[in-house]
Amino acid sequence: MNTIVTQDVELAAATLKEGGLVAFPTETVFGLGASAFQPNAVSRIFQAKNRPQDNPLIVHIAHRNQIAEVCEVIPEAARVLIDAFFPGPLTLVVPAAPTLPSVVTASLGTVGIRMPDHDVANAFLRACGEPVAAPSANRSGRPSPTTWEAVMDDLDGRVDVILRGDASRVGLESTVVDCTGKEPIILRPGSISLEDLKMVHPGTRMSDAADVVSHRSPGTRHRHYRPEADVVVVSSPSKTEGRSGYAYIGLESPEKGLYDGPIRVPGDVSTYARDLFHFFRTCEKAGINRIECQRVGLEGMGRALMDRLQRAASPE
Ligand code: TXA
Ligand code: MG
Repeated sequence: MNTIVTQDVELAAATLKEGGLVAFPTETVFGLGASAFQPNAVSRIFQAKNRPQDNPLIVHIAHRNQIAEVCEVIPEAARVLIDAFFPGPLTLVVPAAPTLPSVVTASLGTVGIRMPDHDVANAFLRACGEPVAAPSANRSGRPSPTTWEAVMDDLDGRVDVILRGDASRVGLESTVVDCTGKEPIILRPGSISLEDLKMVHPGTRMSDAADVVSHRSPGTRHRHYRPEADVVVVSSPSKTEGRSGYAYIGLESPEKGLYDGPIRVPGDVSTYARDLFHFFRTCEKAGINRIECQRVGLEGMGRALMDRLQRAASPE
């Protein structure tokens, strides 16, 4: 397959409506979209990414009035969070409409819905005129793509169109919140933090081991975000000399000469989060063996950043 890279939203939408696969930019990471109501097209997403079939997809919409097309009822908790945070980097898990193909929902009976806060994404979704099922546009298990070039590296020849856009401004995937129970449960932390959600819905909590066992959170079981280099979470930059193929990212600057690979010292946690996956891919290209990532506190977006770092870290 010949992958077309374009800024033409109409071409991208026409391709999707004909059953094609279209990667598109969003504020979080780039997505890989197919028409949510064309099961054959959705199946092609799983093939292109080599994604396990039991991991459901998020359905993306451009207008609130599309929610009714994919969801059976809107729970009260979801209504409150939609009013506060849509459009934005937030996915709400709600009861799925019975007409939604089971390949989208992994037969869970629920669906994750999201309205991106991104001009190109919204123009594309509007032009599609229908709900778009889309996971992140990486090969399964790899860091999510935050640039169109990263999508190209993972999926060239496997998707029909890559809709070009600027680098993603958030850089980590959306916060996923289960709204099917009494109180909202965060299945995946993101830039909309536990603290932000509690201001609007005080009963919101993080998922725990029991939720994972009850299959509430299918995505958390799989291997994630791993570049080819080893990722190691450290408390502070290394003081040891004489290592080769080492890279570093963290808020604290390392002493000179202790890392021979790329070094990145973001000014704050949001910038760290924005740059992380791109840094992983840069290190891969530089042939780095080991990427040391400094831990951060769990406040605000720190929780999402630590979640990704811990999942990317190779068991030692
Ligand atoms: O920011 C994002 O969310 C990006 C952009 C493209 O929107 N998308 C994304 O999709 O990260 P993906 O497939 O890489 O991650 C979706 C996560 C997975 O952990 C999946 O298990 C979970 O959301 N999820 C989706 N539908 C679900 C459902 N019905 N119940 C529970 N978890 C669900
Ligand atoms: Mg993903």
